[in-house]
Amino acid sequence: MNGTRSDEAWWKNAVVYQIYPRSFADANGDGVGDIPGMLAHLDHVRDLGADTVWVSPIFRSPMADAGYDISDHCDVDPLFGTLDDAQRLIDEAHARGLRVLLDFVPNHTSDRHPWFLDARSSRASPRRDWYIWRDEPNDWRAALGAGSAWTWDEQTGQYYLHFFLPQQPDLNWRNPEVVEAMHGVLRFWLDRGVDGFRIDVAHCIGKDPTFSDHPRCLAGEPLVDFNDQPYSHEVLRGIRRLVDSYPGQRVLVGEVNIRSTASIVQYYGAGDELHMSFNFPPLDAPWDPVVFRTCIREVDALLRPADAWPTWVLSNHDNVRHRTRYDGSLRRARAAAILLLSLRGTPFLFQGEELGLEDARIDPRRQVDPGGRDGCRAPLPWKEAPPHGWTGATPWLPFPPDPARQAAERQWADQGSILHLYRQALALRRASPALRLGDWEELESPPEVLAFRRRRSDDVRLVCVNFAAQPRRFAPPGNWRIALCSDGQAPGTAFGGELAGDHAVMLEPGD
Ligand code: NOJ
Repeated sequence: MNGTRSDEAWWKNAVVYQIYPRSFADANGDGVGDIPGMLAHLDHVRDLGADTVWVSPIFRSPMADAGYDISDHCDVDPLFGTLDDAQRLIDEAHARGLRVLLDFVPNHTSDRHPWFLDARSSRASPRRDWYIWRDEPNDWRAALGAGSAWTWDEQTGQYYLHFFLPQQPDLNWRNPEVVEAMHGVLRFWLDRGVDGFRIDVAHCIGKDPTFSDHPRCLAGEPLVDFNDQPYSHEVLRGIRRLVDSYPGQRVLVGEVNIRSTASIVQYYGAGDELHMSFNFPPLDAPWDPVVFRTCIREVDALLRPADAWPTWVLSNHDNVRHRTRYDGSLRRARAAAILLLSLRGTPFLFQGEELGLEDARIDPRRQVDPGGRDGCRAPLPWKEAPPHGWTGATPWLPFPPDPARQAAERQWADQGSILHLYRQALALRRASPALRLGDWEELESPPEVLAFRRRRSDDVRLVCVNFAAQPRRFAPPGNWRIALCSDGQAPGTAFGGELAGDHAVMLEPGD
């Protein structure tokens, strides 16, 4: 960590805001978000109080998987702008005190990437071995409903491997030229000043070298749900060495989408792999105290002893938004904001959750994503009046429900909005060492109430979340007053132990 004390690591103190470029903001009126649109709304992210943006892929792509099928890693897709725009984004974010993480997609490229075009041109191609070819397929299954993970290449008479769509052939990271080429991609962006990367399906890079059939694939599960090979760790160590060779603390946060907390710990290595790994159980958790208690306890029990810094994320571009998962309840979304921003670990916000957005309802005729993930990818409503800040062509997806009421403009003007609740929670987190870096300790409480203490030196906060729809009583020992609550009580008032239904309070010591 370049000699910095580990608790000073910026990424441990960070709050990351995920921008999904297609849906964030459109500046050129073609109905698809772009980098100039991001520039126009960076102040929203800063004023909210996040300090880092993670930008989902902006690179050249045929868009079979919305940009996760890259045909040129070192250029920006014209849909989103130019390389100069990307540089402006990095610079203007930095000028506002925001760090920038880009999406690095190591597992696969587009089938239109020059590397793959070359590889499939002939078995004798010097790049043939950059991808994974076999004479016979095995039973491995691809994600996104793509069926077999092997597609027959007519011209060269072999199958190639793809963990996702056939348009996303998997790279062969055992070939040192691939390692070198992909390291070159990382250097290209590090040299332009990015602060790190979110690594797409980091657990998929290494493949079982014996290509053995797997019963879970036979049962219909895609291999990406459980692929977990030692070689991925070797690749990640190489990537970590590379980013560590740059000045400043460049950071790697990996998507290790194995729903096993014990397994994701391995991806932190001995402090020489990922700085952080996403922790997926809360991403499909319903509003349920047992589920939350279990995954929070598990993270504390497994990650803390390994010195592995946790992340917390309730929504992203691949999963149903949490408000929708919580039966559309705004009360629950508000309570969840206090929970998310009080846990020990770096929180990741998905654009629009600060507006309390729900998933859009997509008419099957307007469906775009082969994986059925359009609902959470709907455009952000900026302005109250239609077309909600998206002037020009109709946006590529319909708006989420109630766009006028949810619009950022309207919520900035309403101190009682969920947007201001997020802003306040972020400001309190920023001001409190206990909330950012302190220990986490669960308090004994009624089963439907999750209560915990965060403490660092003499800075202490308590958080109580009532998952029941009905009021519950929970009076923690001592004298506490409200620092923030999801509904109703004003900050500064003494806390008497009354928790309304679907409600959360953050407490600070009383006099
Ligand atoms: C995970 C990304 O988040 C998802 O959107 C994408 O489809 C797959 N990886 C493949 O890149």
